[in-house]
Amino acid sequence: MSQKKTLVTAALPYANGPVHIGHIAGCYLPSDIYVRFLRLLGEDVKFVCGSDEHGVPITIKARNEGVSPLQVVDRYHALMGKAFADLGISFDIYSRTSSDLHKQTASDFFRHLYDSKVFIERETEQYYDATAKQFLADRYIVGTCPKCNHDSAYGDQCEACGASLNPTDLINPRSMLSGAQPELKKTVNWFLPLDAYQDQLTNFIQSKKDAWKSNVYGQCMSWLQQGLQPRAMTRDLDWGVPVPVEGADSKVLYVWFDAPIGYISATKELLGENWRDYWQGEDTRIVHFIGKDNIVFHCIIFPAMLMAHGGYALPENVPANEFLNLEGKKISTSRNWAVWVHEYLEDFPGKMDELRYVLTSIAPETGDSEFTWSDYQARVNNELVAILGNFVNRVMVLYQKFFDGLLDDSLSEFSSDRHQEAVDQTYHAIQGSLRSYKFKQGLAAAMDLARYGNRYLTETEPWKVVKEDQAAARVILNDCLLLIAHLRSALYPFLPFTASKILAMLGQEESSELPSWNSSIFLAKGTRLPAPSLLFAKIEDSDMDLQRKKLEQSTTEVAGESQEINLEPAKPEISFEDFQKLDIRVGTIISAEKVKKADKLLHLRVDVGIKTVELVSGIAEHFSPEDLPGTTVTVLLNLAPRKIRGIFSEGMVLMVDGVDNKLRFLQAQDGASPGEVIS
Ligand code: 2FM
Ligand code: ZN
Repeated sequence: MSQKKTLVTAALPYANGPVHIGHIAGCYLPSDIYVRFLRLLGEDVKFVCGSDEHGVPITIKARNEGVSPLQVVDRYHALMGKAFADLGISFDIYSRTSSDLHKQTASDFFRHLYDSKVFIERETEQYYDATAKQFLADRYIVGTCPKCNHDSAYGDQCEACGASLNPTDLINPRSMLSGAQPELKKTVNWFLPLDAYQDQLTNFIQSKKDAWKSNVYGQCMSWLQQGLQPRAMTRDLDWGVPVPVEGADSKVLYVWFDAPIGYISATKELLGENWRDYWQGEDTRIVHFIGKDNIVFHCIIFPAMLMAHGGYALPENVPANEFLNLEGKKISTSRNWAVWVHEYLEDFPGKMDELRYVLTSIAPETGDSEFTWSDYQARVNNELVAILGNFVNRVMVLYQKFFDGLLDDSLSEFSSDRHQEAVDQTYHAIQGSLRSYKFKQGLAAAMDLARYGNRYLTETEPWKVVKEDQAAARVILNDCLLLIAHLRSALYPFLPFTASKILAMLGQEESSELPSWNSSIFLAKGTRLPAPSLLFAKIEDSDMDLQRKKLEQSTTEVAGESQEINLEPAKPEISFEDFQKLDIRVGTIISAEKVKKADKLLHLRVDVGIKTVELVSGIAEHFSPEDLPGTTVTVLLNLAPRKIRGIFSEGMVLMVDGVDNKLRFLQAQDGASPGEVIS
């Protein structure tokens, strides 16, 4: 019988920004640990990933930068691939979805479903920009949020109040491409009838009740309980995999249709025809490592695609992690609130395992967790340096001092069964943890072996024994050398760079062979241990201060460029005449009160010199009405009046939308009076 095969996939990251520690802790580190562990066990495992190079955020980034989407993805594909490799994430392949092989694979997959009459062809009305001559993706439409009145809500979501929207919900929609008001136009797209797979998917998910993490299972069941609906698998866009249907020239595959197929094309690129063994074979198991925001795509939509196609294995497990926060805030690429892996490696050269250690120790396995620099420092200094490094270093120094670093006999067995039991227990605990995707617990078990070694040294005090009995001291230190050799195996999945260093400290040549797992260790007579060196160095306070400062500074710098960073529309150029059309004046708030049944709205009366105007403003969550009378504000007066909650709003108070999520009034310097014109 052929050996069971395992295909491990790690979510294809969008190629629109560098990799940060949240990505690593959430997806790439657990998958790497898992794969390294399976390799140690001698299992047939393949590990695939690559850049997700389609999708609207990439086109928006390209537009903001004035470059082509291909230039954006080329840049980030290279940067991300290098950061992963430098951190020891050991993909068998890091591919990309702009490759011809991928486009062909995704296109063939779609065509197979199309020819099998799986899709529903449905005409819908979508916003179309007649000036730019194209349909608009939801993110390319902005307008006023019907829920909170925020005037730059996106077609799919309002970032001010978090409401999930359809583009047609927006009041006064505008195209981000030209600024024009878009019109609704009919278009045909192909929908995957998810509802037709409801029962099959429910059976599939329910069969995973005990095996899957409860957060993943729970989210899937909640989707299923709401009832699945057909979902469009094509989009009217020009960046993506072209829809392989006659007459569909200006359409591409939905990015969430093409991205998971990226796992298949990466496997093909890696293995040629043998890709089928891992996707379509009888003896294959597929494990998708992802973040929690990707659960529905991997557990419902992609399996439905595979069911519709037929002949594919469904995932055995989808061990999704939650999110990692940073110094009390959500990690944000657009706000530059992140620790970028490539920058970390520049600032802390050689400290790959320090980051791997800390991120595994705090991995958001069952709930969101938090990275802080002080915790990083404490874990490195109090655990890696004080426990693991200390044990290895003490043994190496003593062996050098007492025996000149020379092994006078071959070593393979401990002097006492209790050490072998401790080692067996370690392997057993790690194996059990990693098989059930509990990576923190696995790492803790490996570290316990170092603690055991420290205790043994403290109890036996070979530095005292040596004075009376050289041979007895050698027995103790030989046991320690064997413990260190086992530590190298146990730590290898988690800390591969440290495992290599330990190998060299044991006087062994680096070989392409993996450490052995749970089997006997052999250190040959005559081996000479090199001069001791430290496994880990202490992290200084000053380094942490620098990192904290860097974080604060880079995020503040960005505040000045919030247009670009918030991915707000790059607004089209306007003429001076256009600007002159705006009647903007200084005003003073006379009164403010809450609008009934609208938590976010305030009804303001503002003296603008020439008259008093009534305004409805979505600022109620930021200001108490009683504090506002007398406040100097700036008002756009000639905005077309609108009725909001029964009140006629005759203009708009101009606000500064801060990156700290606070709203502030745009105010003239002291001395300005109501009615004075802003020009
Ligand atoms: O959320 C993301 O970053 C997506 N690019 C993940 C895609 S995973 C897979 F389907 F390719
Ligand atoms: Zn809103």
